[in-house]
Amino acid sequence: MRNLDDLLAEGVSGRRVLVRADLNVPLDKQTGEISDDGRIRAVLPTLSALVQAGAKVVVCSHLGRPKGKPDPQFSLRPVAGRLGELLGAPVHFAEDTVGDSARSTVAALADGQVALLENLRFNAGETSKDDAERGAFADQLAALGDTYVDDAFGAVHRKHASVHDVPARLPHAAGRLVLREVEVLSRLTGEPERPYVVVLGGSKVSDKLAVIEALLPTVDRLLIGGGMCFTFLKAQGHEVGTSLLEKDMVETCRNLMERAPGKIMLPVDVVAADAFAPDAAHDTVPADGIPSHRLGLDIGPETVAGFAAVLSQAKTIFWNGPMGVFEMAAFASGTRGVAEAITKADAFSVVGGGDSAAAVRALGLDDSSFGHISTGGGASLEYLEGKTLPGIAALEN
Ligand code: 3PG
Ligand code: MG
Repeated sequence: MRNLDDLLAEGVSGRRVLVRADLNVPLDKQTGEISDDGRIRAVLPTLSALVQAGAKVVVCSHLGRPKGKPDPQFSLRPVAGRLGELLGAPVHFAEDTVGDSARSTVAALADGQVALLENLRFNAGETSKDDAERGAFADQLAALGDTYVDDAFGAVHRKHASVHDVPARLPHAAGRLVLREVEVLSRLTGEPERPYVVVLGGSKVSDKLAVIEALLPTVDRLLIGGGMCFTFLKAQGHEVGTSLLEKDMVETCRNLMERAPGKIMLPVDVVAADAFAPDAAHDTVPADGIPSHRLGLDIGPETVAGFAAVLSQAKTIFWNGPMGVFEMAAFASGTRGVAEAITKADAFSVVGGGDSAAAVRALGLDDSSFGHISTGGGASLEYLEGKTLPGIAALEN
């Protein structure tokens, strides 16, 4: 796989370099402001290197999931502003992705200047399942660059035009972020130092099923919290009140636990509340004593202590998904406790996921106390599953 250094060695001065970034940052629902700019910061090393080398840098990204046509709430304009602040240079914003505005913005770039195109997903061709439709959009996008760099690790698992089809049309290289992510994650799929402990949270078992199946044979312990723990608790024979439950996954969870006896560790206590609300009445209850009218919104302190004890022995840790509704202060202790236990462990730790990464920063924990914070949620999970990632495969060709 060619990388940015190979490209820089060839010289990029005066050349248009089309960079696919993942600038899909969370926006505050009320104000529309960027609530976590981690993904913008993560792509700075690649962009700065290209700027310094005198390239005309054309950045493209998706934001959210607009439906193939312009939708102002998903405009990348605020991201252009933030990117400019972080780069310390103005970022020229194109009002469209491949239309008149994009073409004239790119044509006006001087060497070492940066442009950001409007949201890729304002175009139906970006995510189309139809090869010809995707290809036609990829043609238009590829016309805006002489060379392509993929630094959008968070999107490498998507077979989208900007990820999968553009590199077939232009000389291509992996950016610094993609390279580092792949290096780190390959340490987990190779021969991780043991004990290797994985912590999984988040709301749905069905989202995590493939990764659980792939990881079970390799990990020493799998700690499960978050909304998905209730389907496992149900499979253990406990009543879970009105907690999140995927009924059609109960049998699957039972099979997983039988297949690897003792490996899967579930909560022994949970914080159960009257309602899904920040001010709901709540208590810590044993995992086998959730009242029928209550729902679990966090793991309890005894569980945190048990998980922390296992984590303190670990040599390799992968964590994806919050342990509870950490956005509400009353239900944030589980996520905080597990995150702190991971920072204290004498282990190589990887936090996977846009959401888990944002949780770490929202809780005020220092990024640098983790071995690596991945910018990819779905992408890091699919990498660990051993799946072929369309974006990586395209760079290897
Ligand atoms: C993410 O947020 O996980 C990536 O940016 C990919 O976004 P998507 O799940 O909407 O494809
Ligand atoms: Mg996501």
